[in-house]
Amino acid sequence: MAQVFTLANAKGVCGKSTVALNLAVCFTRAGYRTLAIDLHQQANLSAALGIDLNELRLTSLPAADRLRG
Ligand SMILES: Nc1ncnc2c1ncn2[C@@H]1O[C@H](COP(=O)(O)OP(=O)(O)OP(=O)(O)O)[C@@H](O)[C@H]1O
Ligand SMILES: [Mg+2]
Repeated sequence: MAQVFTLANAKGVCGKSTVALNLAVCFTRAGYRTLAIDLHQQANLSAALGIDLNELRLTSLPAADRLRG
């Protein structure tokens, strides 16, 4: 059965993306199939996972759009 984890906090810059990244990595290393969904404009989670924002073909991220020019 799938489990969904949502990290939310009204305060910014409090570690949400960092916790999400580490949870995703830990679950993956533990053998779980893991999907991390990054809806933040900054796309920090995507970038931290090694995704080249310039290579994104389908995105709702203004940050990625800006990088693509
Ligand atoms: N446990 C920690 N100890 C020290 N620094 C941390 C820790 N967790 C996160 N940071 C640092 O705090 C900063 C903010 O972390 P992060 O980007 O994960 O926050 P965020 O809540 O996702 O921010 P935003 O609201 O901009 O999306 C980063 O520079 C990160 O490296
Ligand atoms: Mg964040």
